[in-house]
Amino acid sequence: MDVPFSRWHPAIEKRRSRRHFDPNLPLAPETLAALHKVCNQFVPFPHARSRLVTESADSVFKGIIGSYGRIRNAPAFIAFIGNMSDPFVQEEVGYTGEGIILEATALGLNTCWVGGFFRAEIATSLAEVGDNERVLAITPVGYAREAESLQEKLMTRFARSHNRVALSKLATGLPREKWPDWANPSLEAARLAPSAANRQPWGFDVQDDGVTVFVRTRGPEFNVSRRLDCGIAMLHLEIAALNSGCRGKWEFLPSPQVAKFKTRS
Ligand SMILES: Cc1cc2nc3c(=O)[nH]c(=O)nc-3n(C[C@H](O)[C@H](O)[C@H](O)COP(=O)(O)O)c2cc1C
Repeated sequence: MDVPFSRWHPAIEKRRSRRHFDPNLPLAPETLAALHKVCNQFVPFPHARSRLVTESADSVFKGIIGSYGRIRNAPAFIAFIGNMSDPFVQEEVGYTGEGIILEATALGLNTCWVGGFFRAEIATSLAEVGDNERVLAITPVGYAREAESLQEKLMTRFARSHNRVALSKLATGLPREKWPDWANPSLEAARLAPSAANRQPWGFDVQDDGVTVFVRTRGPEFNVSRRLDCGIAMLHLEIAALNSGCRGKWEFLPSPQVAKFKTRS
């Protein structure tokens, strides 16, 4: 499946993490079918996949000690699964999972990436995970309660969820006046990506022939790889590039670089 950039581009700005769902609004059969379809069809890498689980969704979020944003009343969840034998599994899962999150957003649904704080053993058995595979993250999916609950508001404030680092602090390489036309909207879209605890670990090196995404920050991992966050930003970057008429190809790179979006070979 090609990246449906004109459908997913508006979802980049619309998406916000929501954690409390409305138990009176179940998912309609056609909505579930649309979610199953995108999970089965948006598989850009052979070792990263997504699986919708509709039974016992609340059980994967229950009783997690230290959880910084408890998820409530989720009617379903989606597991983001990677084959750990792939050296680039984290960024592949981030990129793939964000496609599913943006499609859910386009369908009018609410989501929240959850990395460290879920019951991995329950998610693993519900999502039917293979030998070398691991559930690296999950998202609840459903309709959020219309108003944010007090706990959600506190959570948003705690993670400073709406704050994003200025592009001037994230970008290296060519001076801005020499950037190709597509670079500014693409990096602005990458900057809006969600990340664990909103740590925004990415940096962008702009060159004549593309942009290299690299891991910019150090410090605690929170049980979630920064390369997974960077994979999410990679999809945002590509969607906005396509929306500006620029097509490119990703080449994965060793740490601390993540991948280069190559616009010419
Ligand atoms: C990989 C990843 C893991 C996350 N893990 C959690 C989590 O365990 N619990 C939680 O409440 N939020 C989690 N979040 C949500 C972030 O806190 C949120 O995306 C960030 O604060 C930005 O807010 P926004 O998504 O509303 O733009 C995670 C996000 C990402 C990308």
